[in-house]
Amino acid sequence: MDSKTDAQRMEKIVSLCKRRGFIFQSSEIYGGLSGCWDYGPLGVELKRNVKNYWWRVIVHERDDVVGMDGAILTHPEVLKASGHVEGFSDPMVDCRTCKARLRADQVIEKKGVRQCPNCGGRDLTEARPFNLMFQTQMGAAADESSIAYLRPETAQSIFVQFKNILEVSRKKLPFGIAQIGKAFRNEINPRNFTFRSREFEQMELEYFCRAEEGMTLLDYWLEERLKFYENIGISRDRLHVKTVPDEERAFYSKGTYDIEFDFPFGRQELEGVAYRTDYDLLQHQKASGKSLEYFDEETKQRFVPHVVEPSAGVDRTVLALICEAYSTDEAPDEKGKMETRLVLRFHPRMAPIKCGIFPLLKNNDQLVAKAKEIVGLLRAHMNIFYDESGAIGRRYRRQDEVGTPFGVTIDFETLGERDAALRDTVTLRERDSMNQERVAIKDLAGILSARIS
Ligand code: GAP
Repeated sequence: MDSKTDAQRMEKIVSLCKRRGFIFQSSEIYGGLSGCWDYGPLGVELKRNVKNYWWRVIVHERDDVVGMDGAILTHPEVLKASGHVEGFSDPMVDCRTCKARLRADQVIEKKGVRQCPNCGGRDLTEARPFNLMFQTQMGAAADESSIAYLRPETAQSIFVQFKNILEVSRKKLPFGIAQIGKAFRNEINPRNFTFRSREFEQMELEYFCRAEEGMTLLDYWLEERLKFYENIGISRDRLHVKTVPDEERAFYSKGTYDIEFDFPFGRQELEGVAYRTDYDLLQHQKASGKSLEYFDEETKQRFVPHVVEPSAGVDRTVLALICEAYSTDEAPDEKGKMETRLVLRFHPRMAPIKCGIFPLLKNNDQLVAKAKEIVGLLRAHMNIFYDESGAIGRRYRRQDEVGTPFGVTIDFETLGERDAALRDTVTLRERDSMNQERVAIKDLAGILSARIS
């Protein structure tokens, strides 16, 4: 696809997200708050499915990982020790002509002369560091002592709680601590829809190990994370692994991979997998004066563990899922005429709604009663949607458009009016193939649960 088609595709995706209630601009009725997004009824389901599946494979299905949920407001000493107060900044340039504030790497250079990409102006300031952290005040006093920060990553609370969690979980190396939660960065140019936001969520694992295991575990976690994306329906073809070169890596990291995805606006980072050595724990041990050592009972040695960190963005994963799922094909309308069908081909595991339930006619009490009976039956197992309004084809299309993988139609055969053998059976339609099969109501929950798990 060319860049124009890609830009059009992205526009359509953003518009669908609003129209169907996935993602809205935050504070929209007041003109919007730049870099902030609100998830609507379907977006919140999709987001939860991503987080729940991450938690399931990273924490619940493993013996060597435990979870935590840390505070967002962070002690300034934590972020001084981690290097964020000093160094978490982007170089920034101001255009004196149009007053735009630009990241230094956005400035155009033509024949050695720097130019503003907005207005073409050449009157630009020198690059200055701009700290990306949001600072706030805690308590009534408004002096230095009351400064707190909104965390720029979830990782630091894991490092700071390392000793407490080690003691209560009684884990042996290698083991991990996982966390999902909000992070905040005052990005100079939030852009590409939710891709670069000022408020976003991360899914981070800090996997502690011995120094000699670091590089092997880095490769192990890269593979685990690639499997994760495939298991939520992102095709391997659109995922790319970038080995971050020495000059771009944090000075303390011995190896970093970026997992990138082909978004319509280009190939961009979805997740970083980094071997951070013992840098973070050593920094906090030094700054707090508290030991963050691990005692190896077998060798009787004490040492500060190293760490490998797969760090993923929830919002970027949600956006990748929507971009991956967005497609069109042809399907017959009510009269058999072919029309364009917009369909989000979400993996059933990720789909916000798992099954639509449709009585063939809304003015037939028996059909409606049967359909509501099925709603009651399935609701305990999955998120379903009941719809009785409009022609059945229209109802299918509305669910295709939001990626609902299955549809159940309750018709006269369900009531046993045409063939007694078909009493208490329904039509089960699959979204992508549009194939229909006849299924007994008593088997529905089992069949669907197996297909969405
Ligand atoms: N603890 C390591 C860390 O925070 P990072 O590469 O800065 O590393 C990890 O962030 C992930 O968090 C990114 O790969 C991305 O998915 C997500 N992320 C970072 N900044 C973001 C932003 N401004 N908006 C949305 N997601 C972001």
